[in-house]
Amino acid sequence: MMRQLRPAGIWGTGMSVPEKILTNADLEKMVDTSDEWITTRTGIKERRIVAIDQATSDLAAEAGRKALLAARVDPLELDLVIVATVTPDVSFPATSCIVQMQLGADNAATFDLSAGCSGFVYALDVAVRAVESGAYDRVLVIGADVLSRITDWTDRSTCVLFGDGAGAAVVGPVGEGRGLLATDLGAVGAQGHYLTMPAGGSRRPPSLETIEGGEHYIHMQGNEVFKFAVRIMGETTKRSLAKCGLKPEDIDVFIPHQANIRIIEAARRRLDISEDKVFINVQLYGNTSAASIPIALDEAMRGGMIEPGDIVALVGFGAGLTWASAILKWGR
Ligand code: UT7
Repeated sequence: MMRQLRPAGIWGTGMSVPEKILTNADLEKMVDTSDEWITTRTGIKERRIVAIDQATSDLAAEAGRKALLAARVDPLELDLVIVATVTPDVSFPATSCIVQMQLGADNAATFDLSAGCSGFVYALDVAVRAVESGAYDRVLVIGADVLSRITDWTDRSTCVLFGDGAGAAVVGPVGEGRGLLATDLGAVGAQGHYLTMPAGGSRRPPSLETIEGGEHYIHMQGNEVFKFAVRIMGETTKRSLAKCGLKPEDIDVFIPHQANIRIIEAARRRLDISEDKVFINVQLYGNTSAASIPIALDEAMRGGMIEPGDIVALVGFGAGLTWASAILKWGR
């Protein structure tokens, strides 16, 4: 007999970004670039960079703490903590274990999830399924990355794009008809080489050669990722919408991965969504990887853009290459 599922959704959100701001003018002094090039090609004006003593878990824990406060959940009530990241503090233990300790979430199981910039939506899907099934009651989902630590600050084709940050959401049971309505997740592993950090794992362990060859930095074929992103953002959003019987015109708030204003604009046009429904903060933070969507969600929430009952679409793409979209009916 099929077990009855209970609806699950987001109870509260939070975010954290480092204090230090790196502007396009600062980058003009570091590499051969210009504010004009960065602004017209990406929409980014500034990004946040961690202090020397900060790591991914520090931002993740702060974002998590804020989400717990917003959701009015005590850390000891959590039974699962998932951290989506490609820049863990260390290879192991998992960053989620470090966050669990920092929050005092002593009753929670933990694991990390790696799906690049799609990571938060992947983790949200897992968290919601866990709560829907009745196996877990309160799950903290965090997207956090400190890409500045794996950025080649002499490579103008990548260093202007990224920033550091973390965003979080508490997932729990919600009223009938609310919460996560549908998702569409996927990957094209064959295109993984377009966005990768080649060394530091079991294939290419750290050595003098890998360090001198710059293999511990982000390597990206930007134009290939761009083409993938423009195509997949529209496709995955339509697939998620179809699964819950909705159409693009039903979306009240569209929260895309904040990688590039031109990608967001192309997706918006393909879906024929009006500009006032699209949340954009890429100018302030650049591409914060797994943190990008939850930071945008939190800012859209706090800015009053999302009301209870709204249909909210979260859509991302990233290393893998992966994609993920989620449709939520907002409210607890
Ligand atoms: O979360 C997923 C992560 N990745 C992404 O989202 C990346 C997706 N891709 C993109 O956003 C875009 O492809 C980029 C912003 C990375 C690049 O924009 P583009 O319009 O695809 O430029 P391009 O790579 O075709 O480069 C055009 C020119 C080149 O010069 P030439 O060969 O035409 O003389 C580059 O060398 O722009 C040059 N260029 C720069 N010039 C000034 C590349 N980076 C810079 C720079 N400043 N920072």
